Amino acid sequence: MDKFIIHGGKSLKGEVSISGAKNAALPIMAATIIEPGEYILHNIPNLRDTLTMKRLLEMIGATVNYNNNTMEINTVDCDTPIAPYELVKTMRASFYVLGPFMSRFGEAQVSLPGGCAWGPRPVDFHLKALEQMGASVTLSDGMIHAKGKLAGVHIHFDKSSVGATGNVVMAAVYAEGITTISNAAMEPEIVALCDFLTDLGTDINGIGTDTLAITGGNKLQNGVEFNNIPDRIEAGTFLLAGAITNGEITLLNADPDHLKVVIDSLKQAGVTIETGRDWVKVTNPSKKINPVNMVTAVYPGFPTDLQAQWIALMTRADGHSIIIDDIYTDRFTHLAELSRFGAHIQLTQNRAEIYGIDKLRGAPVMSTDIRASASLILAALAAEGKSEISRIYHIDRGYENIETKLKAIRADIDRVKA
Ligand code: EPZ
Repeated sequence: MDKFIIHGGKSLKGEVSISGAKNAALPIMAATIIEPGEYILHNIPNLRDTLTMKRLLEMIGATVNYNNNTMEINTVDCDTPIAPYELVKTMRASFYVLGPFMSRFGEAQVSLPGGCAWGPRPVDFHLKALEQMGASVTLSDGMIHAKGKLAGVHIHFDKSSVGATGNVVMAAVYAEGITTISNAAMEPEIVALCDFLTDLGTDINGIGTDTLAITGGNKLQNGVEFNNIPDRIEAGTFLLAGAITNGEITLLNADPDHLKVVIDSLKQAGVTIETGRDWVKVTNPSKKINPVNMVTAVYPGFPTDLQAQWIALMTRADGHSIIIDDIYTDRFTHLAELSRFGAHIQLTQNRAEIYGIDKLRGAPVMSTDIRASASLILAALAAEGKSEISRIYHIDRGYENIETKLKAIRADIDRVKA
């Protein structure tokens, strides 16, 4: 297993190009199953997760050519609505094939995803919604078996769910009648999925709001060419890298509109941010970081996928800050590792109290999930001395060529075989 060697304490400086959004690419790749056709997707990031979804599509019978971030997917010969445990256990987002299977085949066999690094991640919202739409849903040998002709109904999610919203939208495409969803997820990645389905001919009202209405039954065209949106979580991570190292980084191919709360929070922390149509520049002339309390929330709130990275920044703030994760109350495996850099953090349930210190010191640490890995990289870049980060296959799931991008902005980072 690879690891990163980082010699920190240097200010990062330069330009970085933001890759396509992982969490938009995955549902959109799954949506190509709904209607047999030839799809050309641009700005698809080269990640372990997108390669896992490519393998899953090929197991289902699709052919996929992937070159230079463009994915050509032909789903004409798909004939096996099965997503096996061996794939789903490595990537929970494989569950996104459930809705497309129901729309294309009227049946599905999808492995129940296990937990993840930070605890259980149920899919009850997805299953309850399909049952409401008329599917019979059973569980046997760890596999979800769903079957039936779906009809449009009103679905209300007690808690906003990105995945469940995506699956219901994709299941509604060929359901009889109109499916309405209240408390739908408004994340840009769900907007991108809805835009993709609209380009194919689906009629969706309320895109970008928490109330969606999908008119089922419109015959989709047999394929489309689509440009994926930029990855706002990668972009936020690089903005925090600029802040924590007192650097000067310009993000290219970013979308500032997807980063409003992150930009506002960084300004509260005393960092300077400039933006343009598709770029964002971060500088930290004061070289100080103000403590800023944070509570994660669904979009457009502060994303849980940047909680770990924000905590890394707060470890070097001038004072005490409180970070609460209300989306995943147990997503704190990174705290013990951050403490190895000398950070002072106390955790009480889903509330982390960080007492900022002047200098972090390099240390060997271990990644536990995609975003925890990112927080350890940020801390290592800021820390004095050498750090080693192991199990970096986690970071390769969600960040494209991260060490190449970091080297290009003066980071001293090398990937070595462990
Ligand atoms: C998506 O996961 C993202 N993954 C996650 O990013 C992200 O952290 C999460 O949304 C929240 O923004 C992808 O898009 C591939 P949810 P998802 O359903 O859809 C509860 C990353 O690092 N819930 O919005 O699985 C759930 O436990 C990953 O890129 C149920 O209780 O998240 C959580 O508390 C990590 N029952 C809340 O809802 C359900 O059936 C939000 O989860 C579904 C969800």
